[in-house]
Amino acid sequence: MSNRNKAEGELVPIEKKWNQIYKHSLLTVTSKILLENSFLLPKQGKALDLACGLGSNALFLAEQGLDTYAWDASSIALNKLHFFAFNKNLNIHTKQVIIEPNTLPKESFDVIIITRFLDRSLTNAIMESLKPEGLLFYQTYVREKLDPSGPKNPAYLLARNELLQLFQPLKVVVYRENSIIGNVECGERNEALFIGQKYDKKFSP
Ligand SMILES: C[S@@+](CC[C@H](N)C(=O)[O-])C[C@H]1O[C@@H](n2cnc3c(N)ncnc32)[C@H](O)[C@@H]1O
Repeated sequence: MSNRNKAEGELVPIEKKWNQIYKHSLLTVTSKILLENSFLLPKQGKALDLACGLGSNALFLAEQGLDTYAWDASSIALNKLHFFAFNKNLNIHTKQVIIEPNTLPKESFDVIIITRFLDRSLTNAIMESLKPEGLLFYQTYVREKLDPSGPKNPAYLLARNELLQLFQPLKVVVYRENSIIGNVECGERNEALFIGQKYDKKFSP
Protein backbone atom coordinates (compact mmCIF):
# COMPACT_ATOMS: atom_id res chain seq x y z
CA MET A 1 0.00 0.00 0.00
CA SER A 2 1.35 3.47 -0.74
CA ASN A 3 0.77 7.19 -0.85
CA ARG A 4 -1.01 8.03 2.37
CA ASN A 5 -1.93 11.61 1.59
CA LYS A 6 -2.04 12.77 5.19
CA ALA A 7 0.20 12.92 8.22
CA GLU A 8 0.94 9.47 9.66
CA GLY A 9 -1.52 8.52 12.35
CA GLU A 10 -4.05 11.22 11.52
CA LEU A 11 -7.35 9.89 10.17
CA VAL A 12 -9.37 12.20 7.95
CA PRO A 13 -13.16 11.95 8.55
CA ILE A 14 -13.81 10.01 5.35
CA GLU A 15 -11.33 7.32 6.31
CA LYS A 16 -12.74 7.15 9.84
CA LYS A 17 -16.28 6.79 8.56
CA TRP A 18 -15.46 4.01 6.10
CA ASN A 19 -13.07 2.21 8.44
CA GLN A 20 -15.97 1.88 10.90
CA ILE A 21 -18.12 0.39 8.15
CA TYR A 22 -15.45 -2.03 6.90
CA LYS A 23 -14.32 -3.19 10.34
CA HIS A 24 -16.89 -5.99 10.33
CA SER A 25 -17.53 -6.36 6.57
CA LEU A 26 -16.74 -9.37 4.47
CA LEU A 27 -16.00 -9.54 0.76
CA THR A 28 -18.89 -8.39 -1.43
CA VAL A 29 -19.83 -9.94 -4.77
CA THR A 30 -18.48 -8.84 -8.13
CA SER A 31 -20.69 -6.14 -9.64
CA LYS A 32 -23.26 -7.00 -12.29
CA ILE A 33 -21.81 -4.50 -14.78
CA LEU A 34 -18.56 -6.47 -14.77
CA LEU A 35 -19.92 -10.01 -14.51
CA GLU A 36 -22.42 -9.56 -17.33
CA ASN A 37 -19.99 -7.78 -19.62
CA SER A 38 -16.65 -9.36 -18.85
CA PHE A 39 -16.35 -10.42 -22.50
CA LEU A 40 -15.68 -6.74 -23.31
CA LEU A 41 -12.51 -6.63 -21.22
CA PRO A 42 -9.18 -6.46 -23.01
CA LYS A 43 -6.92 -9.52 -22.62
CA GLN A 44 -4.21 -7.38 -21.07
CA GLY A 45 -3.63 -3.86 -19.85
CA LYS A 46 -4.06 -1.68 -16.79
CA ALA A 47 -7.31 -1.59 -14.83
CA LEU A 48 -8.32 0.71 -11.98
CA ASP A 49 -11.04 -0.02 -9.40
CA LEU A 50 -11.73 3.51 -8.14
CA ALA A 51 -13.17 3.78 -4.61
CA CYS A 52 -12.76 0.01 -4.54
CA GLY A 53 -13.89 -0.70 -0.98
CA LEU A 54 -13.13 -4.37 -0.30
CA GLY A 55 -12.19 -4.71 -3.95
CA SER A 56 -14.38 -7.53 -5.27
CA ASN A 57 -14.17 -5.92 -8.71
CA ALA A 58 -10.40 -5.46 -8.47
CA LEU A 59 -10.03 -9.16 -7.63
CA PHE A 60 -12.16 -10.09 -10.62
CA LEU A 61 -10.12 -7.86 -12.95
CA ALA A 62 -6.85 -9.29 -11.65
CA GLU A 63 -8.23 -12.80 -12.18
CA GLN A 64 -8.85 -11.86 -15.83
CA GLY A 65 -5.13 -11.14 -16.17
CA LEU A 66 -5.27 -7.34 -16.00
CA ASP A 67 -2.61 -5.35 -14.15
CA THR A 68 -4.95 -4.08 -11.46
CA TYR A 69 -4.92 -0.95 -9.29
CA ALA A 70 -7.36 -0.42 -6.42
CA TRP A 71 -7.72 2.93 -4.68
CA ASP A 72 -9.79 3.89 -1.68
CA ALA A 73 -9.78 6.10 1.42
CA SER A 74 -10.25 3.21 3.85
CA SER A 75 -7.10 1.56 5.19
CA ILE A 76 -9.17 -1.27 6.68
CA ALA A 77 -10.82 -2.08 3.35
CA LEU A 78 -7.45 -2.08 1.59
CA ASN A 79 -5.87 -4.30 4.23
CA LYS A 80 -8.70 -6.79 3.76
CA LEU A 81 -8.29 -6.60 -0.01
CA HIS A 82 -4.57 -7.41 0.39
CA PHE A 83 -5.51 -10.48 2.39
CA PHE A 84 -8.09 -11.67 -0.18
CA ALA A 85 -5.62 -11.09 -3.03
CA PHE A 86 -2.84 -12.93 -1.20
CA ASN A 87 -5.14 -15.92 -0.65
CA LYS A 88 -5.97 -16.00 -4.35
CA ASN A 89 -2.34 -15.56 -5.34
CA LEU A 90 -3.15 -12.28 -7.10
CA ASN A 91 -1.17 -9.07 -7.15
CA ILE A 92 -3.20 -5.86 -6.79
CA HIS A 93 -1.60 -2.43 -6.45
CA THR A 94 -3.55 -0.73 -3.67
CA LYS A 95 -3.34 2.93 -2.80
CA GLN A 96 -4.89 4.67 0.15
CA VAL A 97 -5.97 8.05 -1.11
CA ILE A 98 -8.67 10.67 -0.82
CA ILE A 99 -9.66 10.74 -4.47
CA GLU A 100 -9.64 14.17 -6.10
CA PRO A 101 -9.46 15.13 -9.78
CA ASN A 102 -5.68 15.52 -9.67
CA THR A 103 -5.28 12.02 -8.17
CA LEU A 104 -5.98 10.51 -11.57
CA PRO A 105 -3.05 10.28 -13.99
CA LYS A 106 -3.77 11.17 -17.62
CA GLU A 107 -4.23 8.44 -20.29
CA SER A 108 -3.15 5.65 -17.98
CA PHE A 109 -5.84 2.97 -17.78
CA ASP A 110 -7.38 0.57 -20.28
CA VAL A 111 -10.26 -0.07 -17.90
CA ILE A 112 -11.71 1.97 -15.02
CA ILE A 113 -14.49 0.58 -12.89
CA ILE A 114 -16.53 2.58 -10.40
CA THR A 115 -19.33 1.06 -8.40
CA ARG A 116 -21.49 2.60 -5.69
CA PHE A 117 -19.45 5.78 -5.60
CA LEU A 118 -20.47 9.09 -7.13
CA ASP A 119 -18.39 12.25 -7.13
CA ARG A 120 -19.39 14.37 -10.09
CA SER A 121 -16.32 16.60 -9.73
CA LEU A 122 -14.21 13.64 -10.94
CA THR A 123 -16.03 13.18 -14.25
CA ASN A 124 -13.50 14.87 -16.54
CA ALA A 125 -10.50 13.47 -14.70
CA ILE A 126 -11.91 9.94 -15.03
CA MET A 127 -12.34 10.30 -18.79
CA GLU A 128 -8.88 11.86 -19.13
CA SER A 129 -7.40 8.98 -17.17
CA LEU A 130 -8.60 6.44 -19.74
CA LYS A 131 -6.23 5.55 -22.56
CA PRO A 132 -7.66 5.99 -26.07
CA GLU A 133 -10.18 3.15 -26.60
CA GLY A 134 -10.22 2.55 -22.83
CA LEU A 135 -13.45 1.42 -21.18
CA LEU A 136 -15.30 2.93 -18.24
CA PHE A 137 -17.56 0.52 -16.31
CA TYR A 138 -19.92 2.38 -13.96
CA GLN A 139 -22.69 1.10 -11.73
CA THR A 140 -24.32 3.10 -8.97
CA TYR A 141 -27.57 3.96 -7.23
CA VAL A 142 -30.36 5.95 -8.85
CA ARG A 143 -32.81 8.38 -7.25
CA GLU A 144 -35.67 6.12 -8.34
CA LYS A 145 -34.32 3.09 -6.46
CA LEU A 146 -36.93 0.82 -4.96
CA ASP A 147 -35.19 -0.49 -1.91
CA PRO A 148 -33.73 1.42 1.02
CA SER A 149 -30.17 0.13 0.55
CA GLY A 150 -27.59 2.68 -0.52
CA PRO A 151 -27.39 6.39 0.21
CA LYS A 152 -30.41 8.52 1.04
CA ASN A 153 -28.78 11.84 0.20
CA PRO A 154 -29.86 12.69 -3.40
CA ALA A 155 -26.42 14.19 -3.99
CA TYR A 156 -25.10 10.62 -4.10
CA LEU A 157 -27.89 9.28 -6.30
CA LEU A 158 -28.13 9.48 -10.07
CA ALA A 159 -30.85 11.43 -11.81
CA ARG A 160 -32.47 9.86 -14.89
CA ASN A 161 -29.91 9.33 -17.66
CA GLU A 162 -27.28 11.08 -15.60
CA LEU A 163 -24.39 8.73 -16.42
CA LEU A 164 -25.14 9.30 -20.11
CA GLN A 165 -24.92 13.03 -19.59
CA LEU A 166 -21.84 13.01 -17.35
CA PHE A 167 -19.89 10.77 -19.71
CA GLN A 168 -21.37 12.12 -22.95
CA PRO A 169 -17.94 12.32 -24.69
CA LEU A 170 -17.62 8.53 -24.46
CA LYS A 171 -19.11 6.09 -26.95
CA VAL A 172 -22.00 4.31 -25.22
CA VAL A 173 -21.42 0.56 -25.23
CA VAL A 174 -23.97 -0.46 -22.58
CA TYR A 175 -26.63 1.52 -20.74
CA ARG A 176 -29.34 0.17 -18.49
CA GLU A 177 -31.66 2.05 -16.21
CA ASN A 178 -34.80 0.00 -15.59
CA SER A 179 -36.37 2.45 -13.12
CA ILE A 180 -39.97 1.35 -12.42
CA ILE A 181 -40.93 0.15 -15.89
CA GLY A 182 -42.89 -3.13 -16.12
CA ASN A 183 -42.62 -5.93 -13.57
CA VAL A 184 -40.57 -4.45 -10.77
CA GLU A 185 -40.11 -7.92 -9.25
CA CYS A 186 -37.59 -8.56 -12.04
CA GLY A 187 -34.39 -6.87 -13.13
CA GLU A 188 -31.99 -4.41 -11.52
CA ARG A 189 -34.06 -1.53 -10.13
CA ASN A 190 -31.73 0.31 -7.79
CA GLU A 191 -28.73 1.09 -9.93
CA ALA A 192 -27.88 2.38 -13.39
CA LEU A 193 -25.28 0.47 -15.44
CA PHE A 194 -23.04 2.15 -17.98
CA ILE A 195 -20.09 1.16 -20.10
CA GLY A 196 -18.47 3.81 -22.27
CA GLN A 197 -15.45 3.79 -24.52
CA LYS A 198 -13.07 6.66 -25.04
CA TYR A 199 -12.61 7.53 -28.67
CA ASP A 200 -9.17 7.23 -30.13
CA LYS A 201 -8.68 10.71 -31.68
CA LYS A 202 -6.77 9.12 -34.56
CA PHE A 203 -9.86 7.18 -35.66
CA SER A 204 -12.78 9.26 -34.39
CA PRO A 205 -15.60 9.63 -36.95
C1 LIG B 1 -20.36 2.30 -1.09
S1 LIG B 1 -18.63 2.00 -1.04
C2 LIG B 1 -18.39 1.15 -2.58
C3 LIG B 1 -17.18 0.29 -2.58
C4 LIG B 1 -17.02 -0.58 -3.81
N1 LIG B 1 -16.79 0.20 -5.01
C5 LIG B 1 -18.22 -1.49 -3.98
O1 LIG B 1 -18.99 -1.31 -4.92
O2 LIG B 1 -18.36 -2.40 -3.15
C6 LIG B 1 -17.91 3.60 -1.36
C7 LIG B 1 -16.39 3.60 -1.23
O3 LIG B 1 -15.91 4.86 -1.61
C8 LIG B 1 -14.81 5.17 -0.74
N2 LIG B 1 -14.71 6.64 -0.76
C9 LIG B 1 -15.70 7.52 -0.52
N3 LIG B 1 -15.24 8.78 -0.70
C10 LIG B 1 -13.94 8.66 -1.06
C11 LIG B 1 -12.93 9.58 -1.39
N4 LIG B 1 -13.16 10.90 -1.43
N5 LIG B 1 -11.71 9.12 -1.70
C12 LIG B 1 -11.45 7.79 -1.68
N6 LIG B 1 -12.38 6.87 -1.40
C13 LIG B 1 -13.60 7.30 -1.09
C14 LIG B 1 -15.19 4.59 0.60
O4 LIG B 1 -14.08 4.35 1.42
C15 LIG B 1 -15.90 3.32 0.17
O5 LIG B 1 -15.02 2.23 0.12
